[in-house]
Amino acid sequence: MKVVLEKAAIFIYLNKTCFNGLYMVNSEGKFNVPFGKYKKPAILQETKLRIASKLLQNTELSVSNFTEAVKKAKENDFVYMDPPYFPLTKTASFTSYQKDAFLEKEQRQLAKEFQQLDKKGCLLMLSNSDTSLIRKLYSDFNITTVKARRAINCIGAKRGVINEIVVRNY
Ligand SMILES: C[S@@+](CC[C@H](N)C(=O)[O-])C[C@H]1O[C@@H](n2cnc3c(N)ncnc32)[C@H](O)[C@@H]1O
Repeated sequence: MKVVLEKAAIFIYLNKTCFNGLYMVNSEGKFNVPFGKYKKPAILQETKLRIASKLLQNTELSVSNFTEAVKKAKENDFVYMDPPYFPLTKTASFTSYQKDAFLEKEQRQLAKEFQQLDKKGCLLMLSNSDTSLIRKLYSDFNITTVKARRAINCIGAKRGVINEIVVRNY
């Protein structure tokens, strides 16, 4: 247990002090975000951590590929999917540097899973970037445009509100 707690504490420290709170791994799957520049990083947020801890009681967390993760879903289950965003432009993508890139092929596979879960009778919600591919993949479902704040951008002026889409089958 001590090792798990130590790992969690180290991860929080890294997340709160790294560049823009980004999470990114290299081709070996190791955390490789540069140092951030903070005058007073809020590393220990006890109240928030205690609230999160309370909410996570009686909750089962698992880490797996999405194909594995959705296998347990049954009729009337609610499934929310928040996959890596499909890049708005070719150069805007971080995903291709990562160990397990999430590119067009994966977005298409995920859309197939979405359709299968729909047939099973699950209630589904998915968020993604507002791009023609994503709109095409989910054209049979309800698509709503929402404004989302993007804090992670190395150019301050480009941090701001952008359009994202929310797809629902209800
Ligand atoms: C847009 S983020 C979602 C963040 C999450 N909703 C949150 O609030 O922390 C996309 C997530 O998809 C995960 N991911 C990438 N490839 C995946 C895969 N093949 N199967 C399942 N999850 C994957 C990434 O690790 C990342 O955490």
